[in-house]
Amino acid sequence: LVSLLLVAAVAAERFYYEGYKVYDMYPSSIEEVDFLHELMLTDDNLDFWEEPNRMGGKVTVMVAPEHQSTFVGAVQAENLIMSIRHEDLGEHVQQFWEDYDTRRSQRAPGILIDFDDFNTLEEIEEWMYSLESSECAAQGLFCEVRNIGSTYEGRDILSLRLASNEAVHKPSFWLDSTIHAREWLAPATTINVLNNLVSEYGVDSTVTRLVDTYDWYFVPVFNPDGYKYTHDNARYWRKNRSPVSSTCYGVDLNRNYDYNWGEEGVSHSPCSDLYCGESGASELETQAVQDEITRVNGLSGIQVLMTFHSYGNMWMHPWGNTINFNGVTCERADDHDDMYSLAVVTADAIQATHNTRWSRGTSCEVIYETTGGTDDWAKGVEGVKYTICPELRGNDFVVLPSQIALSFQEIWNGLVAQEAELNVRQN
Ligand code: ARG
Ligand code: ZN
Repeated sequence: LVSLLLVAAVAAERFYYEGYKVYDMYPSSIEEVDFLHELMLTDDNLDFWEEPNRMGGKVTVMVAPEHQSTFVGAVQAENLIMSIRHEDLGEHVQQFWEDYDTRRSQRAPGILIDFDDFNTLEEIEEWMYSLESSECAAQGLFCEVRNIGSTYEGRDILSLRLASNEAVHKPSFWLDSTIHAREWLAPATTINVLNNLVSEYGVDSTVTRLVDTYDWYFVPVFNPDGYKYTHDNARYWRKNRSPVSSTCYGVDLNRNYDYNWGEEGVSHSPCSDLYCGESGASELETQAVQDEITRVNGLSGIQVLMTFHSYGNMWMHPWGNTINFNGVTCERADDHDDMYSLAVVTADAIQATHNTRWSRGTSCEVIYETTGGTDDWAKGVEGVKYTICPELRGNDFVVLPSQIALSFQEIWNGLVAQEAELNVRQN
């Protein structure tokens, strides 16, 4: 029976996206951008992979078979330029799983985790515990895994503290990932950062200084239920997995934080991918991470908080909202110039690594207004001066594993440049 269920689960994942199409659209006027933005917030049947930007640019939408004709009709009525990226997303997903399975079957036995590939929730958790029990100590470091709360489905949410001195709480860097389940490049990148800090300690002088100067906190998988669901059921699932209506699941955790909750760029409809939940921090995952950020910030202050998403090549900072929620003019913080100039230094270092282009600025200006995100909450409520929401490289949530090393290298260079700039400012 167990193996039958297993086969059924695998089959569900393999065929989930049969007949789904993915459309690229190119709005050529403010009216067309507004139209798509409105559609994103009001049509629960559409899943926007690339949101309309204030500046225009490409917009990408995934649509299930039963909704395609309505969608295409609406878009054609607006005379929007449109092309089809995936005629059958099912084939793309199927190919992804075949390649993934092949690579995994070739993984050397006894290897806990593969830094050049994607890893399961269980593998990431086991690796975190192995850092705590042996690997960090072998490097002369201290690592502590903390269970910061449980998910709707009862899974643990884990944070890890990395420090060179257990007893002294130094100003910290915070990195979290996988608030959105399908954004697999995000945990793949943050665990590479963590691995680099541990394995190069005492070897690489920059790493040694960074670990000696700061405490490092990681929450690699913010949304374990969702991440699990992308492995077993639906690769493109975004939200968590709490049942929110008689037919729909999931709250968008990056709209659920208890700061300006529910105001802008959110949906109050449970079936939307942008559903902000019943109230601010209604979700166990949000509560757990909010509490952990508060705890860590209270120990000795968070210098920089980075909450990693994929994809889009963006280095964004607060705020997400417009002035008085007027939907027109993006609000800028009093210390906007400090945030923006740090983002410029960081994004320039990222760009220089592999010759890419990254937008930078407030999330409201770079994309569109939103409220209830991690970065806004941590700055607005906890007073963390530098909170960043990066959108990593790529043009799909499903990417080749060869992207992981590239993503790590550029983000690492960004982090090093960012810290150097902060250093200059403090001296
Ligand atoms: N794509 C991300 C999302 O929809 C961007 C969020 C931007 N807003 C922010 N406050 N960081 O969640
Ligand atoms: Zn995201």
